[in-house]
Amino acid sequence: MLLEVRNITKTYGPQKALDNVSLDIPRGQVVGLLGPNGAGKSTLMRSILGYLPTDGGTVTFDGMDVRDGGDGLRSRMGYLPEHNPLYREMYVREFLDFIADLHGIKGRQARNAKVEEIVTRVGLTPEAHKRIAALSKGYRQRVGLAQAILHDPELLILDEPTSGLDPLQLKDIRALIRSFGENRTVILSTHIMQEVEAMCDRVIMIKQGRIVEDAPLDDLIAKGGLEEAFNALAG
Ligand SMILES: Nc1ncnc2c1ncn2[C@@H]1O[C@H](COP(=O)(O)OP(=O)(O)OP(=O)(O)O)[C@@H](O)[C@H]1O
Ligand SMILES: [Mg+2]
Repeated sequence: MLLEVRNITKTYGPQKALDNVSLDIPRGQVVGLLGPNGAGKSTLMRSILGYLPTDGGTVTFDGMDVRDGGDGLRSRMGYLPEHNPLYREMYVREFLDFIADLHGIKGRQARNAKVEEIVTRVGLTPEAHKRIAALSKGYRQRVGLAQAILHDPELLILDEPTSGLDPLQLKDIRALIRSFGENRTVILSTHIMQEVEAMCDRVIMIKQGRIVEDAPLDDLIAKGGLEEAFNALAG
């Protein structure tokens, strides 16, 4: 199993952001996390990355506890955080070069080649000469995705990767995520049920810090239950 989450709990004061959450994710799955605002999706993602100390439970990535794995383990994961924080004053290529350097890609030529490869892959070519601050939201999102996949991580964690995108950008970004997910493992969060249908193999629904549904997408659709389950989640 690539990822094993066992009984993790995270409390903020009196509030349980995660309440005894367990799940297994094998290699090669694209997993969609659905749940209302405040359900615990971002908290779960940050716990999986090992960024967030939890109050109990363990997260194991390829047999290693994520809290002990350090940089070696984190370099095997890619992360697009919820609000896509970027160095706005940097140029797109300059930023991606910096990320490539962080990932230990040595030598100007190797880094340039990597940056150009990733710029092409995420469809940033026409905008790559600009400062990040000058980009539209959709293109900024592509930069966020570019930094998350640059080092070809085994596990990609995307926190609301398509929020606020126009329909065309949405289509492109979904296709990009799907193609990445063909031979990699992806966990993404979203508020849009259609998005899960378009991209995911498996659906996990979270409510008030607990998993209330965890099933293959096809099973939920076959039961006619995706919409129903989603409505139950909202209600
Ligand atoms: N640093 C923090 N301090 C206090 N409470 C927090 C903190 N981070 C998260 N929480 C609380 O934990 C709960 C879960 O938050 P989380 O951000 O994981 O939800 P989410 O499912 O990602 O929601 P959204 O869809 O709005 O992004 C919320 O009630 C939130 O207020
Ligand atoms: Mg969130």
